[in-house]
Amino acid sequence: MSEQAVAESAPAPAASGQPTIIECKGLGKTYVSGKLEVRALSDVDLHVLRNEFLAIMGPSGSGKSTLMNLLGCLDTPTFGTYRLNQTEVGNLDDDELAAVRNQEIGFVFQTFNLLARATALHNVELPLIYAGMSSRKRHERAMNSLERVNLEHRWDHRPSELSGGERQRVAIARALVNKPAIVLADEPTGNLDSRTSYEIMELFVELHEAGQTIIIVTHEDTIARYAHRVVRVLDGRIVEDKRQTPVIPPPPPSRDEERETHGTADVSESDKQ
Ligand SMILES: Nc1ncnc2c1ncn2[C@@H]1O[C@H](COP(=O)(O)OP(=O)(O)OP(=O)(O)O)[C@@H](O)[C@H]1O
Ligand SMILES: [Mg+2]
Repeated sequence: MSEQAVAESAPAPAASGQPTIIECKGLGKTYVSGKLEVRALSDVDLHVLRNEFLAIMGPSGSGKSTLMNLLGCLDTPTFGTYRLNQTEVGNLDDDELAAVRNQEIGFVFQTFNLLARATALHNVELPLIYAGMSSRKRHERAMNSLERVNLEHRWDHRPSELSGGERQRVAIARALVNKPAIVLADEPTGNLDSRTSYEIMELFVELHEAGQTIIIVTHEDTIARYAHRVVRVLDGRIVEDKRQTPVIPPPPPSRDEERETHGTADVSESDKQ
């Protein structure tokens, strides 16, 4: 059976009662640089309902980020149509596209993409500044968003004064601050150790339980297991689209516990002296 046939024979059944957030038909992207054309994405049909938790998987270069960039209105498709939360995205000009991006989409990236010289609070406030909100309201909304990721006590820290996991939580707070229709996360745990990855994924699970629609790109099976649906991409095409029962693993040992285990010998060494 061909891979295309697998995708067609195993569509994800629609979850009941929820409105459609994303509807892509025949979506494709060709990059042109000089005389070279790269067909990065072909014939993507994708239907996502509100409050789905979806993982996109596939080897390096298969088109995952290209798809995320299209879904996030950071780029426009070469082929096909894309409806985001009732809006036909292909018909919008650059300003309208930027407005949709600001209102409907929260981005989380592997490298956090925070402003180095701004505090956590200011980083979270940024989308609200672009949306033209008053400073008092902005401040309140951004603090609420930091509370959702349990980081309100670090509001005045700059990124260099935060751990990797805390930086990613600031980025998630920023993604949530405009109450977006979808949160798109491209390898959000790619730069984090396993304990911190677990904490970030727990946070995504919590947001999903609170009603958030989440799409996450990952290379790792352990990360994809948290999602309710897994879409696999190969050579720019969706080759599999499956629902699954998510598996939430037990937490890895905390750093303190690890230190206790590995530190026993050190303690006895020092006891000898
Ligand atoms: N701006 C661009 N110009 C030309 N080609 C591009 C551009 N961006 C991506 N590509 C090409 O499109 C294909 C898909 O790239 P994409 O970044 O979507 O892959 P990916 O699945 O996200 O990979 P990774 O797992 O390594 O992040 C690749 O062959 C890549 O080289
Ligand atoms: Mg990528």
